[in-house]
Amino acid sequence: MVATKWTQEEVASRLVRYADLRPCTTAFIDTHTPGSEQKENFTIIGAGVAENPDQYVHINIPHGFNIGAARQPAGCVNSQHSHETAEVFVVHTGRWKFSLGETATDGEIVVGPGDTISIPIHVFRGFTNVGDGPGFLFAVLGEDDPGHVTWAPYVFEEAKEYGLILLTDGRLVDTAKGETVPPDGTPMPATTAQDVKRLRRMTADEIKECVVREAELDKTSIRVFGDGGLTESAIVGAENADEGMPAGKMSWPHGFHLRRWKFDPGYSTPWHRRNEAEVIMMHHGRLKYVWQGGELEMQAGDVLTAPIGLARQYMSGKDEAAIAYVVRGSDSPSGFVAASSCNGR
Ligand SMILES: [Fe+2]
Repeated sequence: MVATKWTQEEVASRLVRYADLRPCTTAFIDTHTPGSEQKENFTIIGAGVAENPDQYVHINIPHGFNIGAARQPAGCVNSQHSHETAEVFVVHTGRWKFSLGETATDGEIVVGPGDTISIPIHVFRGFTNVGDGPGFLFAVLGEDDPGHVTWAPYVFEEAKEYGLILLTDGRLVDTAKGETVPPDGTPMPATTAQDVKRLRRMTADEIKECVVREAELDKTSIRVFGDGGLTESAIVGAENADEGMPAGKMSWPHGFHLRRWKFDPGYSTPWHRRNEAEVIMMHHGRLKYVWQGGELEMQAGDVLTAPIGLARQYMSGKDEAAIAYVVRGSDSPSGFVAASSCNGR
């Protein structure tokens, strides 16, 4: 039986405001390496692949995927690495260059606000803020436990030079602070040339098929509630004939769906519920989340995970369109279920 009564406090604990994000500046092995040392990493839903066990996880509820984020000043680099599960970035602010390959020379592509990039598993990727100021992007990782990152061999060498050793259990030893490898710890063996050979290499042309520009999304959007003022556009995920929703450009299995919402000013959705996780990453404007028992207003950069099964309404501000990116659990989420009244039944 799904609970239908949620207090203001309970739902508020599922909203992470941009202003309240708690960064970790020592999340990964490259965080002492010049050029990468100013990056901030956030674990918003789930612990993701953070290597520092002290990193603060805002919402520790299994969703079947993880939501994290990175904020980097201009010029700051996130080093080449590969993942065991899907990694999808939604650019919130700034311009970002994604580079492929062991030494970042296989190909590159630049993305900006509202653009999305899904990098297939087992491919080395890194990203650099190539804008003029700080930039922020969301990252969605597949599965509850996305495993560990495989760093390119040069990342281990540089890290050691600047005092960081990664252990097999994910802990980081900071020799610059006088720390030594503890008796119960084993340094992670550096990635070998053979390991590198097992990974996939992609070209600049291939990566273009892994990017959706925000400007493309209006062409594929559908109205969600009849003629109402909300359009939804598929980005990641398969077709859903029940909703009349075509497949996203990135339609291979990720373990989650990603779509974009665009609300006309002053639009309220009908009451409805969903049978899977629904996470809202606010991009622009304001959106009110309303349930029987309370309401919360989200602004750009905020993340909300709506309780499964709870009847809800979303309302945009009177004077401004609202744009959000929505992650839903599973490769085949069902559509919304109409809720007949604000009683949530
Ligand atoms: Fe990554």
